Amino acid sequence: MTISEDVLIGYVREIKGAKLKVVVPDHVVLGPRMIHGQEYVIGRMGSFVRIPVPSADLFGIISDVGEQEAGMLVALGSSQVMGHQWMEVELVGESDRKGKFQRGVGIMPLLNAPVHAALAEDMSLIYGKPDPHHIQIGTHAAFQDLPAAINVDNLVTRHSAILGSTGSGKSNTVALILKALTQGAYPSAQIVVIDPHGEYKEALGDRARVFSINDAVNRLYVPYWAMTFDELAWFLVDRNSATESQQDKTLRDKIYEERKNNASRLKTGSMEKTYVTPDSPVPYDLRKVWYDIFFDEYSTYLEKDNYKIVAYKNSLTGEPLKGSIDQVIPPQFETASLTGTHPPYPSPARSGMGGYLNKMMMRLKDHSFDFLLNPGEYDGVKKDLGDLLDSWIGHPQPITVLDFSETPFEVMDLVVGTVTKMLFQAMFWGRSVAGVGRQRPLLIVFEEAHAYLSKSQNLQFIPGYSRTAVQRVFKEGRKYGVGGMLVSQRPSELDPTIISQAGTILALRISNNEDRGIIEAALPEALTGLTNFLSALRTGEAIIAGEAVNIPSRIRIPLVEPRPSSRDAEPVIEWSKPRASQNQYEQVVSFWRTRKMYLSK
Ligand SMILES: Nc1ncnc2c1ncn2[C@@H]1O[C@H](COP(=O)(O)OP(=O)(O)OP(=O)(O)O)[C@@H](O)[C@H]1O
Ligand SMILES: [Mg+2]
Repeated sequence: MTISEDVLIGYVREIKGAKLKVVVPDHVVLGPRMIHGQEYVIGRMGSFVRIPVPSADLFGIISDVGEQEAGMLVALGSSQVMGHQWMEVELVGESDRKGKFQRGVGIMPLLNAPVHAALAEDMSLIYGKPDPHHIQIGTHAAFQDLPAAINVDNLVTRHSAILGSTGSGKSNTVALILKALTQGAYPSAQIVVIDPHGEYKEALGDRARVFSINDAVNRLYVPYWAMTFDELAWFLVDRNSATESQQDKTLRDKIYEERKNNASRLKTGSMEKTYVTPDSPVPYDLRKVWYDIFFDEYSTYLEKDNYKIVAYKNSLTGEPLKGSIDQVIPPQFETASLTGTHPPYPSPARSGMGGYLNKMMMRLKDHSFDFLLNPGEYDGVKKDLGDLLDSWIGHPQPITVLDFSETPFEVMDLVVGTVTKMLFQAMFWGRSVAGVGRQRPLLIVFEEAHAYLSKSQNLQFIPGYSRTAVQRVFKEGRKYGVGGMLVSQRPSELDPTIISQAGTILALRISNNEDRGIIEAALPEALTGLTNFLSALRTGEAIIAGEAVNIPSRIRIPLVEPRPSSRDAEPVIEWSKPRASQNQYEQVVSFWRTRKMYLSK
């Protein structure tokens, strides 16, 4: 079947694996040409060629072009047609005579096989007709009428990465993809966006529920009780998990005990104590843990061997100063006698917890960590883990935005790690439950991933909890219906295992050599022809390759409205305006101190 009018551009002169050298006869004029009313640039780098072989058409991308030295002219066939120009072509796929395209080539062309420019008809055959498995995310750069579609199943289950320099259009692309996924064709679509800069509220507000740590209605809680002991202790008492001190043991035992005590009271249903471990996601009261350890450490007693008669200090009214668990006020005791021979006697349970107690109290009293340490009604009894998951992904909207813009930077790794782990576990354990797991796949978008997935993190200070959790999504998520979409401007700083698991790469403009190298290495096929363009792409132009597309292509992505709130500042416009009134910095500082931002429209 001849798919389109033949536009000969050369002959195959050399074959090295999937790479061909094609020589262009002198009578062939490369460059712009009108064919069927559409303008083509014949022989341009990055454009497609078609090579008919007896049972199929092979398709390739022009990856290099050049001209021979005068003394090295190539004779083409018996007619002695000469060719000065040559091009290198990377084969990417083939279509059979029924017009069905598939990636990869099973047949090789013979030497001297003619090579044609691929025209719009060929391209639509390659990209297929719009169908329910595809969403459109733009048009092809070379064929503006040809929609660029991506396969939703592969995009979600085989993971993806959207990479490009700052301002190249990544967030716009994410917003566009998420809008296309939630446009109506998939009413049960389920997407969670990890949004470190609070960019998506505006762009996705009409189809998303946005949680943030200071929101009055949709408050984002990442409860401490969902963390393992190692995770919590890293944050709470600066513990490095490589070591286990006596203090660690005391804290771990106390948390374990509290989890066991709560196991029978859970809203979700009573849980056998034998199933509880120090790391089980069972709510408990951390304030009580702190208070009890404080009591064990500092309490004094009026009678030796009767540790019920506590030597509390008395206030002026004579009431014992018992402190307060909820308000994190320590109890006060009479000072123990130095000799220990007369009352008050010191606590027999003290174990050198002073340093840990101080650190715990500082954290518990710091309101910027309330979203972690003071999770409202989520105490396991009034509301449990199931309610939390339900609030995140059980609401009617298809998208959940977790806005971390007001989250203290030092806990981003811990918090993103915990959230990702919770979502993964929910999908994992829900895999046989209707409407969960594989029965309602979840796509998690990791925006600004370099902020918490950096490979250069110093393990001493940032333990890489997000990296572990996100790696798990990218390595095992496919089986449980969890897909990851990584978005970053610094691919060279990201954990390479995660990028290597991204089945689809959408690369926007990127100029840094190191970052380009990572993208080139990550692209699933040998694509030098396309990756050469990476630094020359326009804003919103991208190269997309991998599982979600039939063949790699250069596409143009439209600007979405309303846009993510990440648009460039406009110095000329802003600097031309009269100055605003004085004293704005008072407001700045109050936002800064309270970590609450009231975004101006
Ligand atoms: N497809 C597009 N067409 C035209 N302009 C675009 C397109 N995408 C983005 N822009 C413009 O480029 C600017 C940056 O876009 P965007 O925020 O999406 O970039 P980004 O890659 O996410 O940047 P960063 O890494 O800093 O988050 C915006 O001002 C936006 O208006
Ligand atoms: Mg962005």
